[in-house]
Amino acid sequence: MNVSRQSPFRCLVTGASRGIGAAIVDDLAHLGYPIAMTARTESDLLAVASTLTVPNLVIPGDVTDPHAADMIVQRVVSEWNGLDVLVINAGEGISAPITRTDDALWARMMEVNLNAPFRFIRAAVPTMKEQGFGRIVVIASVASRVGAPYISAYTAAKHGVLGLVRSAAAELSSYGITVNAVCPGYVDTPMTARTVDSIVSNTGRNRDEVLHTLAQEQGHGKLIQPQEVAAAVRFLICDQGAINGQGITLDGGKVQI
Ligand SMILES: NC(=O)c1ccc[n+]([C@@H]2O[C@H](COP(=O)([O-])OP(=O)(O)OC[C@H]3O[C@@H](n4cnc5c(N)ncnc54)[C@H](OP(=O)(O)O)[C@@H]3O)[C@@H](O)[C@H]2O)c1
Repeated sequence: MNVSRQSPFRCLVTGASRGIGAAIVDDLAHLGYPIAMTARTESDLLAVASTLTVPNLVIPGDVTDPHAADMIVQRVVSEWNGLDVLVINAGEGISAPITRTDDALWARMMEVNLNAPFRFIRAAVPTMKEQGFGRIVVIASVASRVGAPYISAYTAAKHGVLGLVRSAAAELSSYGITVNAVCPGYVDTPMTARTVDSIVSNTGRNRDEVLHTLAQEQGHGKLIQPQEVAAAVRFLICDQGAINGQGITLDGGKVQI
């Protein structure tokens, strides 16, 4: 691996306590990178930290708190004197028909999936500009690319975050900073398990049948593994800077835009 800044990168991963975030932490740790982790539940973060042999920081926080991004980024920068890799992964998907998407649900989806990523990018950019190097990856979704029933708020937020990625990339490329997204279909994580539970309880359908239906949403008929998302993140952060403002879709070939 030959990148423009000397490894090991100092990394910050949001939503690091389970699912995709925990897989990204594990992958970056195998590269020997120091990793700061945030999520709301400190005990879950400490459980992930206990598996690591690389230097690590556990910084609990709710990313929807308007002050969280500044506080968390400042803490990492002051501990490690810089920040090279920011992976914005914390997110939440709640489904509802449009007529039952109230203002609170709409605002909640925007806050965690769009506003918080914006605040993290804004908080990290001054340090990355000063370093002349930064790698930012947002975990977006196929919902950043196409619409689907019952997820209008989530889809709007995830479309928005891909716009944020593209614009930030265009603005920051001359500073040695890249900003990219990974756009997975259904991933085998607790979030998808909650989706299955919700469909089962709303429809009375059999759990295995629901899982099969969700797997068929991907072109290859399988759920994406969190490790596959982590591998795409690794690819993007180790790039020399040519790949910028892109969203890499991981869904077995179904969505091709
Ligand atoms: N699973 C999928 O099928 C799928 C598909 C496409 C995209 N994605 C995206 O991938 C990302 C991760 O999804 P996942 O499946 O790994 O979800 P998950 O299993 O529910 O994990 C979510 C992580 O984010 C943290 N988090 C959630 N809300 C937070 C908040 N307000 N403040 C701080 N941390 C918060 C959670 O910890 P705490 O609860 O302790 O805070 C947890 O660490 C999300 O952005 C999601 O939209 C997922």
